[in-house]
Amino acid sequence: MRPTEPFRREHVELLSHLEHLGEAARKVARLTIEEREAVVARVLGFLRGTLVPHAKAEEEVLYPEWAKLVGFGDAAVPMVHDHVAIVARIDRLAETDPEDIDTLQELLYGLYALIGVHFRKEEDLQLPAFDAAPPDVTEAVLERMAALAGHAHTHT
Ligand SMILES: [Fe+2]
Ligand SMILES: [Fe+2]
Repeated sequence: MRPTEPFRREHVELLSHLEHLGEAARKVARLTIEEREAVVARVLGFLRGTLVPHAKAEEEVLYPEWAKLVGFGDAAVPMVHDHVAIVARIDRLAETDPEDIDTLQELLYGLYALIGVHFRKEEDLQLPAFDAAPPDVTEAVLERMAALAGHAHTHT
């Protein structure tokens, strides 16, 4: 088992919620306005209740520690840019008129794609450095991450 397996499992769980987001993007135009409002509220509940706290914990713990491991202080800046782009779309989604199907669909698909690619970058580019690091370093990082954002999941 890789040392980062608990973190990877958390991503798998988040990705299952992300699939609901993709589904919402596909069906949003066919829903009644009441259904649309409910779907957007559920998606926002996941994004703001679970995904954003996960991202904030990464910015506080995982990214600075990763930058240390790879020996370049600004290494995680592009990852933070992704978070900023994601949060901007979440805020726009919250402000979008439920009648405005085009914008809802654009934002849902945009978030679906951005978040999916972002997770792959964390898993494929960042986590291997923690798997290769001294086990006590990685364990301490994962514990701090879990204390900040772990197991606080709401379900969509
Ligand atoms: Fe992230
Ligand atoms: Fe993540």
